[in-house]
Amino acid sequence: MIEVRNLRKTFATPAAQVLALDGVDLDIRKGDIFGIVGFSGSGKSTLLRCLNLLERPDSGTVVLDGQETTALDRTRLGALRQRIGMIFQHFHLFDARTVHDNIAYPLEIAKAGRKRIQARVAELAGLVGISDKLRAYPGQLSGGQKQRVAIARALANDPRVLLSDEATSALDPETTWSILQLLKDINVGTGLTIAFVTHEMDVVRVLCNRVAVLEAGQIMEEGEVGQVLQNPRSAAGQRLVEISRGFREGRLFTDAGGI
Ligand SMILES: Nc1ncnc2c1ncn2[C@@H]1O[C@H](COP(=O)(O)OP(=O)(O)OP(=O)(O)O)[C@@H](O)[C@H]1O
Ligand SMILES: [Mg+2]
Repeated sequence: MIEVRNLRKTFATPAAQVLALDGVDLDIRKGDIFGIVGFSGSGKSTLLRCLNLLERPDSGTVVLDGQETTALDRTRLGALRQRIGMIFQHFHLFDARTVHDNIAYPLEIAKAGRKRIQARVAELAGLVGISDKLRAYPGQLSGGQKQRVAIARALANDPRVLLSDEATSALDPETTWSILQLLKDINVGTGLTIAFVTHEMDVVRVLCNRVAVLEAGQIMEEGEVGQVLQNPRSAAGQRLVEISRGFREGRLFTDAGGI
């Protein structure tokens, strides 16, 4: 479904060149909820943004559904982007649009007719459980409700894949739980492939089937979630698992590093 080969990305800053991705290879299969986990600055967001070319890699290739995205011209890339949904930590809703019009937005861009838009928005609102909020504005919603709107908007054009960047990191535990449940239900119900960036192994544990551990722009290990959690081989993987265990057992680790 998504094949990433030898992806490199550097950022030029006044101080130095930052190597954000350093030869990343990744295979995400259809129907996966694929966790991309790592500490702050490890390159997770950059990797996700390279998947839909919000960020242009310096070199390497991304093949999505057999199409090499890195080789597409602007028009074809625009069309492809309509089929890649994305959700973010801070929702990125249009504050001046109602919930209905937020969800309708990608359908308008895809030039769907008025009837089709109405029917699809109603369907999506039902799917994510916000049918009673369609006339509200984002400012009138809770964080969890906003993320539901963002998910509905991301799903509007039947994406081949949903990219999620820390989508639950700004939410309280109960709301996090309900959003993870919603994503899982959508994955099970529709077979939607999800690439899910997080810094929390606990989120990976409950949501994902496969996981890649990223550190300093490199994939340190990758595999089935159960396997990686039980027997992490990389230093970053071990630290992330230790921290999640520490939380559950009520212990702090002085050498755990920052998240
Ligand atoms: N636009 C940019 N300009 C310069 N450096 C950048 C830019 N975007 C990212 N970086 C650098 O690239 C590296 C990877 O950043 P990235 O945002 O991908 O990390 P991350 O794993 O998503 O971190 P976090 O968990 O804090 O969100 C970091 O060193 C970061 O400072
Ligand atoms: Mg990030």
